[in-house]
Amino acid sequence: MALLEVRNLTITYRGQAQAAVKQLDFSIEAGETLALVGESGSGKTTTGYAVLGLLPAEAIVTADRLEFEGRDIRHFNQAELGRLRGGRIGMIFQDALSALNPLMTVGAQIAEAVRLHHRVGRKEAKFRALALLRQVRIPMADERYASYPHQLSGGMRQRVVIAMALAGNPALLIADEPTTALDVTIQAQIIRLLAALQQETGTAILLITHDLGVVAELADRVAVLRNGECLETQPAARLYQQPQHAYTRQLLNARSVAGGQL
Ligand SMILES: Nc1ncnc2c1ncn2[C@@H]1O[C@H](COP(=O)(O)OP(=O)(O)O)[C@@H](O)[C@H]1O
Ligand SMILES: [Mg+2]
Repeated sequence: MALLEVRNLTITYRGQAQAAVKQLDFSIEAGETLALVGESGSGKTTTGYAVLGLLPAEAIVTADRLEFEGRDIRHFNQAELGRLRGGRIGMIFQDALSALNPLMTVGAQIAEAVRLHHRVGRKEAKFRALALLRQVRIPMADERYASYPHQLSGGMRQRVVIAMALAGNPALLIADEPTTALDVTIQAQIIRLLAALQQETGTAILLITHDLGVVAELADRVAVLRNGECLETQPAARLYQQPQHAYTRQLLNARSVAGGQL
């Protein structure tokens, strides 16, 4: 059984002429990384939200299967969804600044995430939060624990967001444009960090990005989306060597024009 199984997923926002996601099929095995790649507006975030049960009421979802760990996500009640999000499924979104509370130290925020998903006391939560800060390779974790988000660089803030996403010991991490807001050198560091964390924790990753340059080091397989449709799904190495679709070749060329940083 795959960890995540999506079959014939179609999502239409009420009032829109075209579906945002059309008859999408994909699955993710435990420990695997699948990249969803496509231009802005191709339906990537909508797909990620569907997996988390986070779509707004105006989104109409149909699917033959939408299952996480063998259970239909559409049948989860609010309490179960609450446990799923940040629990079995960790979330990393693009903008680390807006994901963090500006009035709380980063350590306290990670500790809070720990306590949301584990029955532990304050002391144990702090202990685990410190371990998470070290795990995401934040230097001087003990001092950084008491920092506020604005005192950290963009890359360090994104590491804090990743630490929070790991706090619930997820089986799947959904990373939606995790590096888009960052400088190119920092982007590469965050991708390498995600690869290292995957090795250490065994978590699967759904990597959502518009940038094929970002997926090379991390993805096992790549699904190319355009206008809500999946054009091809290939093992990453094969996609780079033998793209099947003209559009995929375009994306690959766009990457080398942009510098092909990875
Ligand atoms: N809340 C919404 N209401 C109506 N349309 C939306 C909403 N969110 C996204 N869309 C539309 O759905 C399509 C896919 O959007 P999105 O999933 O955000 O794409 P991506 O993440 O690939 O940039 C776009 O055409 C977008 O305008
Ligand atoms: Mg998006």
